[in-house]
Amino acid sequence: VQPGAPLTRAALAAADEQDPLRQLRQRFQLPAGLIYLDGNSLGALPAATPAHLRDVVERQWGQDLIRSWNAHGWVDLPQRVGEKIGQLIGARAGETLVSDSTSVNLFKLLAMALAARPGRRVILTEAGHFPTDLYIAQGLCTLLGERAELRVVAPDALLDALDEDVAVLSLSHVDYRSGRLHDLPGLTRAAHQHGALALWDLAHSAGVVPLQLATDGVDLAVGCGYKYLNGGPGAPSFVYVSGALQHLSSPIAGWFGHARPFAFEPDYVPAEGIGRLLAGTPPILSLAALEPGVDLALEAPAEVVREKSMRLTELFIGLVEQELAGHGLELASPRDAQSRGSQVCLRHPQAWPLMQALIARGVVGDFRAPDLLRFGFAPLYIGYADLWDAVAILRDILQHRSWDTPAFHARQAVT
Ligand SMILES: Cc1ncc(COP(=O)(O)O)c(C=O)c1O
Repeated sequence: VQPGAPLTRAALAAADEQDPLRQLRQRFQLPAGLIYLDGNSLGALPAATPAHLRDVVERQWGQDLIRSWNAHGWVDLPQRVGEKIGQLIGARAGETLVSDSTSVNLFKLLAMALAARPGRRVILTEAGHFPTDLYIAQGLCTLLGERAELRVVAPDALLDALDEDVAVLSLSHVDYRSGRLHDLPGLTRAAHQHGALALWDLAHSAGVVPLQLATDGVDLAVGCGYKYLNGGPGAPSFVYVSGALQHLSSPIAGWFGHARPFAFEPDYVPAEGIGRLLAGTPPILSLAALEPGVDLALEAPAEVVREKSMRLTELFIGLVEQELAGHGLELASPRDAQSRGSQVCLRHPQAWPLMQALIARGVVGDFRAPDLLRFGFAPLYIGYADLWDAVAILRDILQHRSWDTPAFHARQAVT
């Protein structure tokens, strides 16, 4: 692909030939002919997962039954998969665990952050934060009454809003709509300069943006298992607590986070280390499904993944500009690749029926209210020629107005 020259399908197919990650695409089971630009919502199925799950279900559960907690290491699975994710996010050993959902882990971490900063009551965040992050903070503030307050500001007002009342700065690394990438090291430093902790939601960056949480001094973090970690629908989330904060107790004092769960003691004593973030019995089948996805992500060097991700989003935007001008689409993502995660959003008044028409033609992205077409680019299984094909189909749909049918206008529960 020559800088400045018009983009062609042949040039993009040639770029695929040179792609150091191209072999990894075969390690996923994707339907032939489908262009899957939604790995930021639900990652693709790793080819190794079905056989692994079959073994866990039929042999471990079916044959070995309850003995599998010890014999097949079920009891250590949250820590084992957590350690692997810890490598992906640049955590130190013993700082990452897989447990519960991102939402539930946010509750734990926000409560722990407030406890770590007595005398401070503010959770600082931005208005465009993912709704569950806002809702969980609202719920916690309702529960704590006078002892907590949610301060929501515009992204460019965050630095000014950091003051001596802020206990924790809670943000998403990558904005779920626009894909805007926050300056994680800089904002973490700014929080620390004001005596606050930094809590990052890494849902849209783990597995696709290089992370070095320990080096950057990040205090607390969460992220989804089902996006770029390819752990499957509803995969459990990961939770990271820096070593310096592991004396804090989880507000959900469940028996799996107890120092001695099988002593069945009447009083709660938290386990040493990250294990205290566990609450109830871990979902073994979901955890088992997550492990091959994380293993695959670990095979790809983070810098190579980031380079390809930036190139994919850059070329996609270039193709939209070259091929779709005059069709009323507006870029709703940062134009500079360094400031984007691995997704691109396009604004259009008919975004909903357009996306339904695209999906019907085998290009799967998603719709985000009120008017966004969102496309995620998972570098482990998306190629450069896919970009050409997706944009060509979108151009055809726009030119022929084939989106304008009652079937494509009909709304569905999940968008
Ligand atoms: C930034 C972010 N946080 C959290 C979530 C969801 O959390 P949960 O897995 O608890 O539903 C999402 C889901 O898309 C997300 O994009």
